[in-house]
Amino acid sequence: MAGVKVGVVPTMGALHDGHISLVAAAEKVCECVVVTIFVNPTQFAPDEDLDKYPRTFQADLDRLSEHQVEFVFAPQNQAMYPEGFSTMIRPPVVGQTLEGESRPEHYEGVTTVVLKLLNIVLAEFAFFGQKHFQQAAVIKRMAVDLDLATEMVVCPIVREKDRLAMSSRNVYLSATEREIALSLFRSLCKAESMIRQGVRDAQQIMTAMRDELLGSGVTQVDYAVVAKVETLEVMDQVELPAVLLVAAKVGQTRLIDNLIAE
Ligand code: PAF
Repeated sequence: MAGVKVGVVPTMGALHDGHISLVAAAEKVCECVVVTIFVNPTQFAPDEDLDKYPRTFQADLDRLSEHQVEFVFAPQNQAMYPEGFSTMIRPPVVGQTLEGESRPEHYEGVTTVVLKLLNIVLAEFAFFGQKHFQQAAVIKRMAVDLDLATEMVVCPIVREKDRLAMSSRNVYLSATEREIALSLFRSLCKAESMIRQGVRDAQQIMTAMRDELLGSGVTQVDYAVVAKVETLEVMDQVELPAVLLVAAKVGQTRLIDNLIAE
């Protein structure tokens, strides 16, 4: 559409206020907003929750109808990955640690599907949430490395009233698990407050984050780190700005969260 700014909001559906904040951000700068809904199988490992991932298509459409969304693109698997599909995008170095270590094939699936979606929608702007901090870094790097014309916009995390970061996976949590899940944000706040008080030994901070998580009853901590904002390298000595990142399992549900300390 000549002269019309197109913005795309890639999602896997099960839309919550976090997604809607991306749509609202897109509405502000684009005349035409496209939302994609596709539960991308290539970013799930065989032991992950692809089959039970929440699918709420009609409710998603109802929510989007309250916004200025011109198109919803919701392809079938067969359309995205037809017989014979075999090209995958190797993610950049910034995707090798953290999620890249815990979920080795995840980012290959993300970069591949995002590039495909951008090639289909041909948007000037694409909107992603800071909730997936590393994912946003991976996509931004891919855009630079592959000379993509789309500008990547990263929008702030949206939290529930109790400060739990919004996630489509929060629906899996029982009432008890939800209480435990609050420890992710608590661990980030604890780390931030230690930094504010002048602690610069990153190991000491990361131990405190881990202690907060395990002490609150999370099942498994995948990582709890203080890292460089650009490269996501884990720091020895804290230098600001830094990003604090956690990933932990609460029961069977894997949750992530992050906070920037400046
Ligand atoms: O963040 C997500 O919901 C997904 O990883 C994305 C970017 C839509 C790709 O499937």
